[in-house]
Order: sequence, then C-alpha cells, then structure tokens
Amino acid sequence: MKETQTPGVIRAALITGASSGMGREFARQLSALGECDEVWLVARRREPLETLAKELGVPARVIPADLSTDEGLAALKEALSEARPTLSWVVPAAGFGVFGRYDEVSDEDVSKMIDLNVKGAVAVTRMAIPYIQRGGHIVELGSGSVFCPLPNFNVYASSKAFILHFSRALREELKHLGVSCTVFCPGWVDTSFFSVADKEGDVRKPPMEKRKPLLKADRCVRGAIRAAKRRRALYTTNWYTKLEHLLSKLLPAPMLIAGWKSMQNRK
Ligand SMILES: NC(=O)c1ccc[n+]([C@@H]2O[C@H](COP(=O)([O-])OP(=O)(O)OC[C@H]3O[C@@H](n4cnc5c(N)ncnc54)[C@H](OP(=O)(O)O)[C@@H]3O)[C@@H](O)[C@H]2O)c1
Repeated sequence: MKETQTPGVIRAALITGASSGMGREFARQLSALGECDEVWLVARRREPLETLAKELGVPARVIPADLSTDEGLAALKEALSEARPTLSWVVPAAGFGVFGRYDEVSDEDVSKMIDLNVKGAVAVTRMAIPYIQRGGHIVELGSGSVFCPLPNFNVYASSKAFILHFSRALREELKHLGVSCTVFCPGWVDTSFFSVADKEGDVRKPPMEKRKPLLKADRCVRGAIRAAKRRRALYTTNWYTKLEHLLSKLLPAPMLIAGWKSMQNRK
C-alpha cells in the first residue's frame, strides 16, 4: 500500500501514553521522520506533555485525559469530532501492569488495568478509525507477555493477550480501507513502567536481575515504526521475545508457565 500524502492535508499522529516511555518516543520519532505534520499527545499529566510538545519539530495538541474513565475517553472523542483530523498514525500506548498474586493486587488496580489496557485501547482505536487516511497505520501496544498465561502478572498479561487478538483481527477488517494494524510486543523495556508495576512490599514477581537485558525504548520504537511501515501484523523486539513467540507455538502451556514461574522470587 502506497502511503498517500495529499497536498495541503495536515497529517496528524494520535499517541496516547505520550507523557513518558514508548509513547513519548513514538511522538519524537514520528515527527522527526516526517510521518506527520501535527502530533496529538494524550496522557493524564499535562506538564510532561507540554514539555514534549515544545521539543517536537511539529505543532502538537496536548490532551490531558484519564483513558481508564468514560469521561477521559469522551473528552478525546469530542476533540476528534471537533477537529476532524486526518490521521496518518494511531498509537494507543497508554497502559500499565502490576505484579503480584491475585491476593497481592488490589481490586482497584485490577479494574484499572482492564479499563485502560483493554477498554481504553479498544475505545481509542475505534474512535480514531474514521479519521485514518488510506495508507495510515495503527500500532497497538501488546507485550512479550502475550505469548503465555503468566501467574503473578496475570491480569496485565491477559489484558495484553486480548490486544494481540484484537489487533490481528482488526488488521483484516481494515484491509479494505488500506490501513495497517501492527501489534508491537516488546520485551522488558527501560521506562517508568516498573516504577508502577513494582508495588511496595514483597510480592510475587521476577526480580529485577531476571528482567535483563532491559531494552532501550528508542530502539524498540524505531523497530516498531519500521515494522508498521512494512504493514507487518506483529513485531517482537529482540531474541528472547522472538523465542517466547516461537516456544508458544511449540510447547504446551504448562511448560511455558513452569519456565515463567522459575523466574519468580516466590512461588
Ligand atoms: N516497559 C516495558 O517493559 C513494556 C513491555 C511491554 C509492553 N509495554 C507497554 O508499553 C506501553 C507503554 O509503557 P511504557 O513502558 O512506555 O511505560 P510508561 O513510561 O510508564 O508509560 C505509560 C504511559 O501511559 C500513561 N497512562 C497511564 N495511565 C493512564 C491513564 N489512566 N490514562 C491515560 N494515560 C495513562 C502514562 O502517562 P500519565 O501517567 O501521565 O497518565 C504514560 O505516558 C504500555 O501499554 C505498556 O503496557 C511496556
């Protein structure tokens, strides 16, 4: 699919989770690569979004919104219907995870993970589709955790497994519009993800030294953009994520689960 650039049309990139980590990196790279003429930056914290907006070489709209809530989603939908942008990229990167057994993770965190990682990502994608140009791209944030049920990271991994299926099926549904949909499945990436995932106290989780090597966000995002431009269905970042993907096709789930559990600090 040839990427079309109609003269006079302002192409926008809509990025959620843009206040840090990989969302911020997508904003930097897509604007630097000339993939968009304007960037829509969405997250809860206004200040880091405004700092990023000043640094980008293209105009940016800052939209502070909590995408785990109906109000936050409605605010973004309204902004889209008012501006009616032509979107060249949509990256719903907002998301978080919390380690721990079922009784170590709060009801609130469980609900928020599902609300943001599943409901929020699906809602943002669906509200953006009418504005995506032919030749445009959606990059959904999956994870290396999509390939196996993960005890003690269960709701997070399950929420991302949902995104894997959602993205792959949506990709087929969007073919007639000439819009690609790629699910981006990184391994452990060095972002503020872990400051949220690692709650206070001794909860069940892989210790930090077992989460090595920590990948660099800029490299992972560069690879994801390249894969999306090639209209790939799935992008895994590095050898251990590719190995997890392969093993998930070859081994029964109990063996994969036993491998994951062997990394935990407590069983
Ligand atoms: N880091 C990893 O190892 C890793 C691996 C695989 C997949 N991922 C996925 O990659 C995506 C980006 O994560 P990251 O690693 O870049 O982590 P990060 O640096 O913590 O970024 C998370 C982003 O999500 C936003 N966010 C959190 N809750 C939100 C809410 N309720 N409403 C709107 N925005 C919200 C945060 O901004 P505010 O706090 O300002 O709202 C932040 O911009 C996530 O979907 C994550 O699950 C991460």
